[in-house]
Amino acid sequence: MGEVSILLTGATGYVGASILQGLLRHPDATKFEITTLVRDSAKAKILEEKFGVKAALGSVTEQEKLTKLAEDAHVVIHTANSSDSIEAMEAILRGLKNRHENTGDLPHLIQTSGTGVFMDDARGEYASTTIYSDLDLAALDALPPNAFHRAVELLAIDADEKGGYARTYIVSPSLIYGLGHGPLFDAGLANPFTFAIAAYVRAALKRGTVGVLNQGAGIWQSVHIDDVVDLYIRMLDAILSDPEKVSHGRSGYFIAENGGQSARELLQAIAEGLFALRRVATPELFIANVLFSNARCKGERARRELGWTPKYTPRDLLELVKSELTAYVKREDSA
Ligand SMILES: NC(=O)c1ccc[n+]([C@@H]2O[C@H](COP(=O)([O-])OP(=O)(O)OC[C@H]3O[C@@H](n4cnc5c(N)ncnc54)[C@H](OP(=O)(O)O)[C@@H]3O)[C@@H](O)[C@H]2O)c1
Repeated sequence: MGEVSILLTGATGYVGASILQGLLRHPDATKFEITTLVRDSAKAKILEEKFGVKAALGSVTEQEKLTKLAEDAHVVIHTANSSDSIEAMEAILRGLKNRHENTGDLPHLIQTSGTGVFMDDARGEYASTTIYSDLDLAALDALPPNAFHRAVELLAIDADEKGGYARTYIVSPSLIYGLGHGPLFDAGLANPFTFAIAAYVRAALKRGTVGVLNQGAGIWQSVHIDDVVDLYIRMLDAILSDPEKVSHGRSGYFIAENGGQSARELLQAIAEGLFALRRVATPELFIANVLFSNARCKGERARRELGWTPKYTPRDLLELVKSELTAYVKREDSA
């Protein structure tokens, strides 16, 4: 393998920093020329000086800058506000198109989306029997274009299918759990918290109880952050060693999940954890007016194509969420 230029957005985030650590400890790490796009100049300096990673200072809202950075990369891994910013996706795709036209290279884009794309309107009342699979392309094609995250996914898919100037892959993680851990987190460079759990903890600490809507019956899949990193690294390896074997464009949809749990189960674990910390008055759940949906799906493609075998299960989520609550509470206390 020659040198591989990689652009990673969101390197100071929960997902992006975890992926960056995966890249830095990769056996071929010395062949990777990694560039990140970072908003904070102090963090950019540490990334360059301590971790040997190029850090361009800027925001994904600076479209010309993002286009130029994408143009310079053979592989783009996008995590910064990746699932919902149409402008950022358009800027990246312009850069990949320029690269293809100017150099003949066929660059790769790994887009981070999310299984929120499958959300229904159950409002906690039922567990859906609809379970999407990433091998069922007809069901994915039938997703409404205005579904959560879908507009950005469609731009990435069209760039590959219609544009033909890049290979694009969509990684769609379900609820990611497990505190971010490793050298970038230890250095205070990255957010170690997953937003869904952080949001529930924040609301519970404000209210003094943990709320649930109706039965909290809706089911979301979940996946541990270490298994997510493993999937990205396997995908990168596959793309670099034998791209013809990796599904891309419309077929390149990779759901990251390893089982699911109801909102009630997750919130019950949070309530018990916060009660043990003496931060809510009761481990009982209270009915709350929050949107509770189903987003059931099966991540079959990464298992089949990439040999991905995630280690952690929803049982780990329900255990970890309790043991890691101290860190979430500490952050809320200091905010
Ligand atoms: N966490 C989950 O459970 C989960 C599940 C499924 C999908 N996802 C998707 O994964 C992606 C990453 O999520 P995350 O959990 O890692 O979020 P996060 O911890 O909030 O990290 C977001 C990252 O994006 C950067 N960023 C945000 N806006 C930016 C901008 N305008 N310009 C440059 N950088 C910007 C942040 O930089 P700063 O440090 O400067 O803020 C940070 O590095 C998102 O698209 C999310 O929807 C997450």
